[in-house]
Amino acid sequence: MTNFVRMKVSVFRKARFNAAHRLYRKEWSDEKNLEIFGGCSHPNYHGHNYDLIVELKGEVDPLTGFVYDLGKLKEIIDAEIIERFDHRNLNLDTQDFKELNPTAENIAVVIWNLLRPKIEIKFDLAVTLYETERNFVRYEGE
Ligand code: NI
Repeated sequence: MTNFVRMKVSVFRKARFNAAHRLYRKEWSDEKNLEIFGGCSHPNYHGHNYDLIVELKGEVDPLTGFVYDLGKLKEIIDAEIIERFDHRNLNLDTQDFKELNPTAENIAVVIWNLLRPKIEIKFDLAVTLYETERNFVRYEGE
């Protein structure tokens, strides 16, 4: 017989923020930065529309039939991520990327670390971040 109480289901919430960045290492020449980071190294910054997908995996609550209140998850994402990064220059306006290159990889790790303390540990947390339609990364906290 199926035991729904023990079934783990993933739930997802999507969000978007627009932010500017520049990828570079200051000890490298503009030519080397261009070679390694491509257009994302242009000195005057540029923007991306970042699409964020937050995934929580956990047991279905037998009383509600929910894994997690997605309205509550939206509020957490708004408060912790959107307020912090939307319409910001990630390099200049945030403490998180003062010394850390704001690649999609690093942004995903920073987001995961901001969300993890806000969500009970019984839920597995994964963050997927699209920098463009075709380029995206995923971090599960390993
Ligand atoms: Ni870029």
